[in-house]
Amino acid sequence: MSITPEESAALKTKILQNPRLHLIDHPMVQHKLAILRDKETSCKQFRELVREIALFEGYEATRDFPLRDVKVETPIAWSDCQMIAGKKVAVIPILRAGLGMVDGLLDLIPAARVGHIGLYRDPMTREPHTYYCKFPPDVDQRTCLVVDPMLATGGSLVAAVEYLRQANVKDIRILCVLGAPEGIARVLDADPDVNIYVGAVDEYLNERAYIVPGLGDAGDRIFGTV
Ligand code: PRP
Ligand code: URA
Repeated sequence: MSITPEESAALKTKILQNPRLHLIDHPMVQHKLAILRDKETSCKQFRELVREIALFEGYEATRDFPLRDVKVETPIAWSDCQMIAGKKVAVIPILRAGLGMVDGLLDLIPAARVGHIGLYRDPMTREPHTYYCKFPPDVDQRTCLVVDPMLATGGSLVAAVEYLRQANVKDIRILCVLGAPEGIARVLDADPDVNIYVGAVDEYLNERAYIVPGLGDAGDRIFGTV
């Protein structure tokens, strides 16, 4: 553990005041999170819940998308409506657990492109190691929704944001199911423009850098591996 639970509690109070951290406190998300955390929840249900939570988080992360006026002819009359004004999106999962959030976002934004960043966290050093990286060719023109259920030390997401900045991406929004205070603070400090959307800010990291109380290993629970 790099900081004490007490230091983590103080950091939590601080980051919750940061306007670039968006806590999704919607009752539906909180309800689904409670089931997701339960160690008895099955692999099938876990996978479904991660997908659903991703969709809800997507609503919040796209709240400021600009609209344009359109006229639509209903069976009754012409109607003044609004549609998204040409915003292009890429969903960028961090392999492997991030894959569990992709379909929820594609339910919301079916035309989005998908890029992949393959990272794993070394269990000894906790440092991220990259094994794959492929983005859509026009990724720099797109709003990138980076998805990973777990933000623990923040090492993986700091690395992912660096790759996207190197590819000239301007608008990066991170969507996580759970985050630990020190990891969230690290990502916010590492990049002055990134926004983070999260279902809950948990308490601290344990000696294995797992989130407490957390939900265990998200990748293993999504894919049924141990
Ligand atoms: C988990 C998780 C994040 C990372 C978070 O992935 O999905 O990517 O750890 O940890 P960090 O914030 O300390 O970097 P893991 O490395 O276990 O790989 P997996 O998704 O393949 O299971
Ligand atoms: N990765 C996970 O899947 N869970 C944690 O608690 C930390 C990293």
